[in-house]
Amino acid sequence: MADDQQCIVLTGVTGFLGREVLFELLTHTRATVVCVSRASSDDAAQQRLDQVLTRLLGAGARELVDGRVTAVAGDLTEPDLGLGARALRQLVARTSHIVHGAASVRFDLSLEEARRINLDGTLTMLELARRCFAEGRLERFGYISTAFVGGRYPEPFREDDLDLDQGFRNTYERSKFEAELLLRTQMRRLPITVVRPSIIVGHSQTGVTTGFNVIYWPLRMYADRIFRWAPASPRHPVDLVPVDYVARGVVEAIVAGGEAGRTYTLAAGEHAQEAHQVADMAADVFEISPPLLFSTPLDRWALPLLSYGLFVGPWARYASAYRQYLPYFLHPSRFETRNASALLASRGIEPPAPTELLQPVLEFARATNFGRNAAVIRRREKRDAARRRTALARALRRQQRGGDAPAGAATSQRELTGRAGRARGSRRPAEAMVAG
Ligand SMILES: NC(=O)c1ccc[n+]([C@@H]2O[C@H](COP(=O)([O-])OP(=O)(O)OC[C@H]3O[C@@H](n4cnc5c(N)ncnc54)[C@H](OP(=O)(O)O)[C@@H]3O)[C@@H](O)[C@H]2O)c1
Repeated sequence: MADDQQCIVLTGVTGFLGREVLFELLTHTRATVVCVSRASSDDAAQQRLDQVLTRLLGAGARELVDGRVTAVAGDLTEPDLGLGARALRQLVARTSHIVHGAASVRFDLSLEEARRINLDGTLTMLELARRCFAEGRLERFGYISTAFVGGRYPEPFREDDLDLDQGFRNTYERSKFEAELLLRTQMRRLPITVVRPSIIVGHSQTGVTTGFNVIYWPLRMYADRIFRWAPASPRHPVDLVPVDYVARGVVEAIVAGGEAGRTYTLAAGEHAQEAHQVADMAADVFEISPPLLFSTPLDRWALPLLSYGLFVGPWARYASAYRQYLPYFLHPSRFETRNASALLASRGIEPPAPTELLQPVLEFARATNFGRNAAVIRRREKRDAARRRTALARALRRQQRGGDAPAGAATSQRELTGRAGRARGSRRPAEAMVAG
């Protein structure tokens, strides 16, 4: 199908990653995009989309994208997303691709609530995909998972791995894992691609982010001088990827070139930073002495106990966040990225060198006081919108001249190719774990 015939249904556009995926779809494909987001009506959904477009591209953004992007109101937790019969029929007839990125990324939901959004919500999207495939023209269902479905698995988690009795740090990891298990049962019937990003941070050039959770939380505690230590080995891997690289990878894997039936891990992999490197750079940017990193065999049981016992009074409000992030310090995760590296490196798409990535990310966090300085955020976003407009205008001119969608615009300097594989040990192939 020519890419100007493609119609892509995107969930999660109001989120940190979703808006960047939308930008990549606009600049690297000629597809039309239908954004499903939570709202009381399609008009209200359109208003939410307009806000996203304005923050991305500045004033007049809607005219700039010229009818290529529309919104419908839909909620993952409702049957058929809560769409009426007519709207559903129209969507089924039009859709060539689904990019399902909406999720709850909270670590502290009950398992029931996390499953309702992340597992049942994926089932709802899968049911839409099944109808689009049977009655329409679906080419691909793409699911944005997380590299952390690998849970506490002690070795590098490969893209083919899934159920290795790994155990999970929280209900987020478990519910995303269960959604992947569900998808594996359908991979023989539907063209499904799974993308697993590791920890997503701000834009590789500007550091701009709209979310300050995950890695930003411990950094903020350190910058605010609340914790000057972390219970992690100095060699603890910290696998960070910039949001623009992830969005580009999502589009390449699901829309532009990746294969159905495959999983692509978008991570730094063996090039991941180590905790002491992140600590030193943070110390530089925030101009305080580096945090103390320590790891003893006692930590595994002593710190969880301490986190319940000691955090009282003025410390209480940090206790719950501390407990949520503690397992990430205690259990390191490593990822293999062979499929993603092969796909993206062949198109000249590379993540930035980790040392270069951290500088703009930390600088944006510092300048905006971790999202608390609205005026600086507005100024930076305005500058970012101007840069994006230029990039989009260039892409649209190329598209009008009939050139190919601009695959292969490298996002950074370093090749990801040539990563060594590791011995496999006694892994069970995930495909065999689930009825196909
Ligand atoms: N952030 C990371 O570091 C990271 C790392 C690996 C993987 N991921 C994955 O990347 C994806 C996007 O994450 P993110 O960080 O961008 O999350 P986010 O900023 O919290 O955005 C979540 C998005 O999902 C939507 N959503 C939530 N519940 C919904 C529902 N019931 N119906 C419809 N839409 C709903 C939200 O819409 P509202 O605006 O209506 O709330 C929002 O657009 C997720 O699948 C996540 O698992 C994220």
